[in-house]
Amino acid sequence: SKAPVITVDGPGGSGKGTITQMLARRLGWHLLDSGALYRLTALAAERQGVSLEDEPSLVNVAASLDVAFEPTPPGEPAKVLMAGVDVTADIRTETCGDNASKVAVMQPVRDALLQRQRDFQKPPGLVADGRDMGTVVFPDAPVKIFLTASAEERAQRRYSQLKDAGVDVNIDALLEEIRVRDERDMNRAAAPLKPADDAQVIDSTGLSIEEVLVRVMAAAGQA
Ligand code: C5P
Repeated sequence: SKAPVITVDGPGGSGKGTITQMLARRLGWHLLDSGALYRLTALAAERQGVSLEDEPSLVNVAASLDVAFEPTPPGEPAKVLMAGVDVTADIRTETCGDNASKVAVMQPVRDALLQRQRDFQKPPGLVADGRDMGTVVFPDAPVKIFLTASAEERAQRRYSQLKDAGVDVNIDALLEEIRVRDERDMNRAAAPLKPADDAQVIDSTGLSIEEVLVRVMAAAGQA
């Protein structure tokens, strides 16, 4: 029962989240937001008083995550429940993303989340969003996309998002945070962020969401 998988990997702020959500909806396929699992591990650790340096305990936290993704109306982010509690907003903070990328360098933590991710592969198909979907989690996926954008553009998008949400931020600080996180994700030993050998690379710099979606659909052979 091997349902088809489209993997979409790339750095944070490349538009992956929005694009994979639209793609999955359009195809009527399942969606895996693997970054949410790393964010949830970081959040659960914080709430359980587990240090981000305590690898054995972090592995337990990751292995015992009680998580549910609930569908929402088009355009809204999927609702994320941890132990029945809505944590959708809590996992989207810059701090949680930063902590997620710290726990994500640990191979045993990644191992603890591996099968949970593969369980999302169900008919009629799966769109998988992350950093290592095409390289590690679904190496046999028939379609692999690597979505990227310049760090400046990603900082600008994040800035606009936060400004719309009424959050006051400094764009230079955002750019610096993005650079630090890219650095950590690309240079780690465990499943570093990089395009799979057979991935199609799409640069979304200067493109609208609609324009990116057209390119992604074409790459996926679904245009
Ligand atoms: O994509 P998102 O910003 O939600 O991911 C948060 C962090 O989780 C990333 O910076 C990365 O370090 C980690 N991650 C990962 N592998 C994935 C998805 C996310 O290491 N497949």
